[in-house]
Amino acid sequence: MGDIIGLISGKGGVGKTTITACLGAALSEQGYRVLLCDGDFGLRDLDIILGKEDEVCFDAYNALEDKSMADDVVMKIKSNLYFLPASQSIRWEDMGRKKYRKLVNHLAKSYDYVLVDCPAGIGRGLESIMDLAQRFLIITQPLWVSIRNAARTIQFCREYGHRDYAVVFNAIHTDRDMPNMYDMLDALGAEYVGSMLPYDARILDGTQEGLLIEAMPKPYQDMLAPMVDYITSGDAWDEQDIIHRFNDVTAVKAMDSVVMATLAQPVETDSINDSTDGTRAVTYTNSWSTRNRLISGKESMWRRTRLK
Ligand SMILES: Nc1ncnc2c1ncn2[C@@H]1O[C@H](COP(=O)(O)OP(=O)(O)OP(=O)(O)O)[C@@H](O)[C@H]1O
Ligand SMILES: [Mg+2]
Repeated sequence: MGDIIGLISGKGGVGKTTITACLGAALSEQGYRVLLCDGDFGLRDLDIILGKEDEVCFDAYNALEDKSMADDVVMKIKSNLYFLPASQSIRWEDMGRKKYRKLVNHLAKSYDYVLVDCPAGIGRGLESIMDLAQRFLIITQPLWVSIRNAARTIQFCREYGHRDYAVVFNAIHTDRDMPNMYDMLDALGAEYVGSMLPYDARILDGTQEGLLIEAMPKPYQDMLAPMVDYITSGDAWDEQDIIHRFNDVTAVKAMDSVVMATLAQPVETDSINDSTDGTRAVTYTNSWSTRNRLISGKESMWRRTRLK
């Protein structure tokens, strides 16, 4: 039975559908069999991004009405990558949510990973996906409006007993100041960073043309690696490794003074000390330590234990 992963955000338009398609493609290229589910019932976008807009004859709702169609509604996108479209006319409020859960669980038996692209908001759609998925990617942009909404979805995860989630920062402008990453994580109350994805105008073009997964910009593609690892191993990368990789792939070295400062770097090495209990205390430029966070308790942001 494949793992079912929900991509959620609270706020709309932050990149859930785009990331679902690109992450699915990245996983399939590593040889995993992947099913992408459009969970945005009543609207539906994933078909456009996948370039299959004109080919959707049946959707998940048809399979809920007629069980025998369960396997026929799934479309092949490319080798190892499959797609279950949502209905455009039926909303989550109007359909059998238990039946949908059964359908996806049934299909998951034939895949390594099932990625569910969620609707924005915290309505029935999100509730249903909370009941369906075991792991979540919280997609946000480095903007306070988006972060506050994402924080609410993290609360939602907790209310449903889910602890296995990572935050993905999307559409990061490398030529602009952004809030300190650790301040954002603090506001989110999140432990793990899944990845940081650069803003790239070519994403918009690829989306428009339905050619995104064939023509993914290289810096964006490279930043999918930490997410692929999180999905396949359950371990998130260290956030410093993610920052370094981001800076490498977006080639912002010339702008270090702007970008690095905003991303919270450890201070000079001589103020990094090893404590007697072997825990490394690293002070960040926003002047609190990872170790203090570890000590400060159950909701600690900087747990390094593996969530399984
Ligand atoms: N990293 C990026 N760089 C540039 N544009 C992006 C990036 N990620 C997403 N976009 C663009 O932002 C727009 C919204 O993306 P997308 O549809 O994936 O968001 P969403 O969270 O699924 O929205 P909704 O909540 O409405 O379903 C799209 O036009 C997409 O091309
Ligand atoms: Mg969407």
